[in-house]
Amino acid sequence: MAAVDSFYLLYREIARSCNCYMEALALVGAWYTARKSITVICDFYSLIRLHFIPRLVSRADLIKQYGRWAVVSGATDGIGRAYAEELASRGLSIILISRNQDKLQMVAKDIADTYKVETEVIVADFSNGREIYDPIREALKDKDIGILVNNVGVFYPYPQYFTQVSEDKLWDIINVNIAAASLMVHIVLPGMVERKKGAVVTISSGSCCKPTPQLAAYSASKAYLDHFSRALQYEYASKGIFVQSLIPFYVATNMTSAGSFLHKCPWLVPSPKVYAHHAVSTLGISKRTTGYWSHSIQFLFAQYMPEWLWVWGANVLNRSLRKEALSCKA
Ligand SMILES: NC(=O)c1ccc[n+]([C@@H]2O[C@H](COP(=O)([O-])OP(=O)(O)OC[C@H]3O[C@@H](n4cnc5c(N)ncnc54)[C@H](OP(=O)(O)O)[C@@H]3O)[C@@H](O)[C@H]2O)c1
Repeated sequence: MAAVDSFYLLYREIARSCNCYMEALALVGAWYTARKSITVICDFYSLIRLHFIPRLVSRADLIKQYGRWAVVSGATDGIGRAYAEELASRGLSIILISRNQDKLQMVAKDIADTYKVETEVIVADFSNGREIYDPIREALKDKDIGILVNNVGVFYPYPQYFTQVSEDKLWDIINVNIAAASLMVHIVLPGMVERKKGAVVTISSGSCCKPTPQLAAYSASKAYLDHFSRALQYEYASKGIFVQSLIPFYVATNMTSAGSFLHKCPWLVPSPKVYAHHAVSTLGISKRTTGYWSHSIQFLFAQYMPEWLWVWGANVLNRSLRKEALSCKA
């Protein structure tokens, strides 16, 4: 009984002397909770402002805002083609760059016939490195380039551990994912700065949010593009240039055909056409966006989740993508 009494007395003494600390801790807790709540509310507000409100108001005049021509790299398939079509539907003339002359001519004619705009093509294989840029510079000379879309990109055949990725694939990732965007901006930006207007859209990837195992080189190349775009925005916004880092998660293209199960969920994995329609409506509004509402929700989760959870999820998903790809090959 004496022991219980003395414990109670001790507890009362400690509680009394800690009272002010408890109150301070409660204040810190309340401040932290309020801050987090405000951040989440702001994130949801910007999601609505970015992905829903622009679709209710009339479409921006992109020609007046940026210029008459748009250049799209990797424009014959997937997101690049859909983006080119979406810009053409808004009246811009399009310069398409890809490797295959016949495919380029076919897509260019298709766009010109459908949207009644001018189209031109440049055949270039970005994996060839430095030699291809002089001809591109020459072809773009004297053109009022309003929008540059750095879309071209290569992916692994399927998610792999780093040492299993071929040396050729690693060079492709460096030349196509990293060098192409950097050099294309270097070619096009001076003209935009002279005209004091223009937009540069660079397509990164959701895999740049956090280190992504089994896609090490790819996700690192996309992190480069994200940082590159954000830094450019700081350098050139004051000169009238809008630089956007576009960070899609999964889109149903050839690149993701290894994961056919992903394509069964269109609101999570939109078609390139749906994706491009949404993404173009964010042009001029957001400097860094996923371009699609459900991808923005994924991005929010990705930002707030701890790295170990991201890595665990990436490992599970990438393992099943590899398994599916290998079973299709067998
Ligand atoms: N799909 C997704 O889920 C996803 C998600 C996040 C980010 N992304 C990024 O979005 C971009 C487009 O992806 P996508 O899925 O639309 O790709 P895709 O369907 O595979 O299309 C790639 C395009 O790039 C061209 N291309 C490929 N290699 C080239 C090279 N070496 N030189 C010139 N052109 C080349 C291809 O045309 P030719 O074969 O005719 O040359 C094609 O037009 C990429 O940067 C990718 O990393 C995609």
